[in-house]
Amino acid sequence: MTSRNEAVMYALIVVVAVCAIMTQGGRNAFDWRERDAFDEIDDRMNSINRLNCHSKPASELHLPKETLAQLPLFNKLLTNIIFPNRTNLLHIHNMALNRAFFYSYIMQKANTSVEFYNQPGLLYYYLSAAADVSANEYGINGSAILYDVNCSYANWYKNLPFNNTLGLFGPRAFRFDDYNEPTNWLREPTNKTINIEDYGAGPESNYTLSSYKWNRWYKIFLPDGWDKSEHDSTRKHTYGVDIKYSDKTGHFVDDEYHSMVFFGPPSPGVKEKEDLPVRFTQPYFDCGRSNKWIVSAVSPVVDRLPRYLDQWFHLRRQKFVAASVMDIDFLQVDLNPCVVGQGNELPNYFAGTAKCKPTTMCEPISGWGFRRGGYQCMCRPGYRYPFYQRGPFQGADIESATGDEYKNGFDCLPVDLRQVIPNIRSNSSGYSINGRKKRAVSESADLQDAGRLVRLARELRDEDEAPLAAVSRGQSHILERRKRFLRIVGLTEEALGDMEKRIVRRDPTPVFAVKRKRIFVPRYKRSTGASRKKRQAFDKDRHARMLDIISLRQSVTKKNCKQFKTDDLVLPGDVSFGAKKQFSPQARTALRLSHFISNFLQNVDIYEEYGNLRGDKLLNTEVLFGEVLANVMGDLRIEGSGVFYDIDKYKGPNGETRQFFGPYAYRFKEDDTGKGLHAKDVKTRFRAEDFAGHKTHYLDKEWFKIVKERWQSNTYGLDRFMEKPMIRSDLDGTSLRKFDLYPLYYRAPREEDGWWSAPYFDCNKYINDWIITYSVPFFGLNSIGTDIEFKGVVRVDVLLRDLDINQCPMDFHMPNAFKNTARCDYKTTYCVPLPGKKFNRGGYKCECKQGYEYPFSDQAWYFDGQTMEEEYRKKINGLQNSFHTLKCRISAGGKASLSWVLLLTAVALRFLQ
Ligand SMILES: *[C@@H]1O[C@H](CO)[C@@H](O)[C@H](O)[C@H]1NC(C)=O
Ligand SMILES: *[C@@H]1O[C@H](CO)[C@@H](O)[C@H](O)[C@H]1NC(C)=O
Ligand SMILES: *[C@@H]1O[C@H](CO)[C@@H](O)[C@H](O)[C@H]1NC(C)=O
Ligand SMILES: *[C@@H]1O[C@H](CO)[C@@H](O)[C@H](O)[C@H]1NC(C)=O
Ligand SMILES: *[C@@H]1O[C@H](CO)[C@@H](O)[C@H](O)[C@H]1NC(C)=O
Ligand SMILES: *[C@@H]1O[C@H](CO)[C@@H](O)[C@H](O)[C@H]1NC(C)=O
Ligand SMILES: *[C@@H]1O[C@H](CO)[C@@H](O)[C@H](O)[C@H]1NC(C)=O
Repeated sequence: MTSRNEAVMYALIVVVAVCAIMTQGGRNAFDWRERDAFDEIDDRMNSINRLNCHSKPASELHLPKETLAQLPLFNKLLTNIIFPNRTNLLHIHNMALNRAFFYSYIMQKANTSVEFYNQPGLLYYYLSAAADVSANEYGINGSAILYDVNCSYANWYKNLPFNNTLGLFGPRAFRFDDYNEPTNWLREPTNKTINIEDYGAGPESNYTLSSYKWNRWYKIFLPDGWDKSEHDSTRKHTYGVDIKYSDKTGHFVDDEYHSMVFFGPPSPGVKEKEDLPVRFTQPYFDCGRSNKWIVSAVSPVVDRLPRYLDQWFHLRRQKFVAASVMDIDFLQVDLNPCVVGQGNELPNYFAGTAKCKPTTMCEPISGWGFRRGGYQCMCRPGYRYPFYQRGPFQGADIESATGDEYKNGFDCLPVDLRQVIPNIRSNSSGYSINGRKKRAVSESADLQDAGRLVRLARELRDEDEAPLAAVSRGQSHILERRKRFLRIVGLTEEALGDMEKRIVRRDPTPVFAVKRKRIFVPRYKRSTGASRKKRQAFDKDRHARMLDIISLRQSVTKKNCKQFKTDDLVLPGDVSFGAKKQFSPQARTALRLSHFISNFLQNVDIYEEYGNLRGDKLLNTEVLFGEVLANVMGDLRIEGSGVFYDIDKYKGPNGETRQFFGPYAYRFKEDDTGKGLHAKDVKTRFRAEDFAGHKTHYLDKEWFKIVKERWQSNTYGLDRFMEKPMIRSDLDGTSLRKFDLYPLYYRAPREEDGWWSAPYFDCNKYINDWIITYSVPFFGLNSIGTDIEFKGVVRVDVLLRDLDINQCPMDFHMPNAFKNTARCDYKTTYCVPLPGKKFNRGGYKCECKQGYEYPFSDQAWYFDGQTMEEEYRKKINGLQNSFHTLKCRISAGGKASLSWVLLLTAVALRFLQ
């Protein structure tokens, strides 16, 4: 380049810069953004810190409750879809409920004075709260049980008579930011240190007073006064529990179940608005503790009070005695900045803070937390992206744009000449998700389908009436066409002939069910064949296999499962693709129990007494039954849960070792009542039994054996947690002191250390449905106390039908049975999975690719998976269909707009050449 050219270039740059400054009029390039609700909340949060929070009024330490939109409501959980942006709130909701159920259950179960010492002791409360935090690294940062005044019958003080209470008792564990610990020389939080404090001790610790600034969790359910008794029946719900105990291996104490009814948190019907079992607090500043803005889920613990008053029996009633509280960082909670509309109902403090242009519409992005820009702007129906834009405009780009960029960009262009969607209806339409099942139901429609197919085949045959002549005439393509047609519909020549005969006889036996090639191969053959195919957008064989799997899932029921071979009641492992992620909260629930038992077995010694303090007794069978029941009761997606001790590893409080101990709890579904498995109402009856009573033991079961084999001889790779318990110095809680053992350590597994089973049908035992099992080990000290060893597994069962399947294309190595079965037109569209569609096909949408536009004039901008599947079904069955029209078209070129800067640059470039 010559120096003359350089000079021209510089002059050009100066001209452009001067013009740019002049048009800005001296304003800052970011001034176009107005102050909004987000800034206001952000400022309020920034104005509080750990140094000034003590002196601020309560109002400044709380944020408006509208800052938490769309909280999970217990009675809507079965009917509403919980989107990924609310799964972490749902998890603290469920864990708060879990603990509330556990403590309600155990206090009402062990209610006699004899059983007083079987109730949880001091370390039980502490270690359980610590496990809630340590097992939920990305979900829970604090866990507490906060008792009301004179409601906690503590069994760990020698100088407290059994019928007396502590004033207040509130053990709370929270994750401690240990970046500054002397032992932490990386100066990075390890996330593995947990502080546990008694909130009821120390100066100014009376959290029941209104002058206590951080006690919104207290006020929601407590105090539960006598005067409210007329409202009691709805506020406290009764739950039925049947338990079958075993006293020795292979033997149940009783063939009958021991039934018990206990009072727990409310269980409102779908229509009721009040008395939810779990409520959320406003976001508040956790002053002096974790010093962060947090949100708590709160659930009430119920007990019959006063206890142990024989002569005052009539005074006794069910009472909320404590609040079970779980915390999460407010910064972790997604917000929805889009305009109010369907799916984004008020109240929502941040509604309308997104900056989408009128030609676009706004969609929140999940996992963004409390940050600006957690949204994207998609073209409205009838608009398309400019050619340079790949996918929706990202909120983060918009928020960091200058005024000019915003003014001139982020707009969609109108689509001209939109068509009306072809409305082709066949008589047998009436769409149903499970096309095959439907055929079994309405046979005549099936016969019609078959008739069309045969007609089509016949037409193809008529064309090549004289096959040999055709071949000699070089028309072998006609034969090819016929063969291909038969291949697509999965029929052989004989089957076709058979079909023709049936149609003549008008025999209504479903044709496809009988004659379709069976692609669902037995297990031992599965690794060969189809799986070696290279990645492609749509895989016909996989699609057929998917239909087989879905219909097999639907065809096995409680009534007929006995007729199947055990092998047929196991689905291939790749069917449960996505379970690890979608059921992670349920796995974490099992992990919590594993952490708790590990923590307890590694730190509680039967012989220890600490001055005035009684040491905890070893875990008894009742509390472990209570724990597994609470796992099932607290989470609607957990169907069953159990704790299974390895052989000769369970030692009870009496010092006796049992060969086996395996309490397993499950949701009990009464049949015969007509409600059946699909009843929408929440079940409040639960059953549990000790697997030790069965004649065959559980050590050989896959979910036990595989985990045991991995961990039995090698415990390397476990996480090590540190907990720092602070207890009250005396009965009145004058001050806090360190617990005699300080700090405590325990080693426990991670979520990935557990094992997920393939889906299988639990036939005529407990759940009677397709389930997936997750099992995770727990560890205790070995017999000489020098190291830790494998002690058993914790297990949870979830329903296969709650799993969302993903039909979109994936790489060849992804173990997903349903990949590449989405029927998008991959030339012009791409596939996006939709959450919440469960185990049904069609849970995706086909969106237009870059450079293509949606051609129709309905109020959509994508093709729905269910429509695609249905039209495809019609197509392969030879019915009238509009499958071939469901694709995007090349977008017309945008209007050429004249930009003088571009023009100048173009001229300059021309000049420079
Ligand atoms: C213990 O609870 C059971 C079942 O709720 C109840 O029948 C029994 O009267 C209670 N016993 C005492 C001593 O409170
Ligand atoms: C709690 O118990 C103490 C001691 O028994 C008693 O002095 C106090 O009045 C009780 N408080 C309430 C609110 O019942
Ligand atoms: C506790 O029990 C003892 C003896 O059983 C009785 O004398 C005392 O009054 C009881 N105390 C309370 C607070 O109920
Ligand atoms: C806390 O305050 C309540 C009044 O709200 C009072 O009844 C109770 O005795 C106090 N508890 C303690 C331990 O100071
Ligand atoms: C601790 O947690 C934070 C945030 O959740 C994460 O960024 C960090 O990597 C974690 N630290 C360790 C040592 O895992
Ligand atoms: C827990 O606390 C850590 C920092 O101490 C934070 O990075 C993380 O986001 C918090 N997690 C939740 C779920 O609140
Ligand atoms: C969560 O995502 C769903 C689906 O995208 C949306 O309808 C809802 O408004 C979102 N909620 C929040 C609080 O972001």
